[in-house]
Amino acid sequence: LVASMEGVEQTYIMIKPDGVQRGLVGEIISRFERKGFKLTGLKLFQCPKELAEEHYKDLQSKPFFPKLIDYITSGPVVCMAWEGVGVVASARKLIGATNPLNAEPGTIRGDLAVQTGRNVVHGSDSPDNGKREIALWFKEGELCSWEAVQGPWLVE
Ligand code: TYD
Repeated sequence: LVASMEGVEQTYIMIKPDGVQRGLVGEIISRFERKGFKLTGLKLFQCPKELAEEHYKDLQSKPFFPKLIDYITSGPVVCMAWEGVGVVASARKLIGATNPLNAEPGTIRGDLAVQTGRNVVHGSDSPDNGKREIALWFKEGELCSWEAVQGPWLVE
């Protein structure tokens, strides 16, 4: 029972507008599914400017902030909540480095993107931010807690 296991975390993963436009939604979701994490929230969503600014508030003073907000609000995003043991750090590994040219082959950004400003996917950088971001992007009732029937082959 993963839900009662130690180290279970939640992370907020978002396919950015370029990922949606480029038809990469299925490809990206399937990488997290195949890894063995559990999807607990999923929606296609046009992000309002205020929400994008709140999500990226720590980057407010950066020169790229206005362009980042324009990018994130330029089309629908896919909002996801994923749950699992060590999911926060593992998702960051699956996603790869912020600059896709530095991201290892095999990672999402390493395989599918070239520029930092079009890096196709977001993943929370800590368990606390995972909780914060899921609460920011989802309403209660949009999240689904469910028991995966997986037997002993994924988790001992
Ligand atoms: P950051 O939180 O540093 O990276 P990550 O998404 O890997 O956690 O930055 C958030 C986003 O801001 C990043 O995904 C793309 C954008 N960004 C730029 O456009 N230019 C930059 O120089 C940096 C560092 C980030």
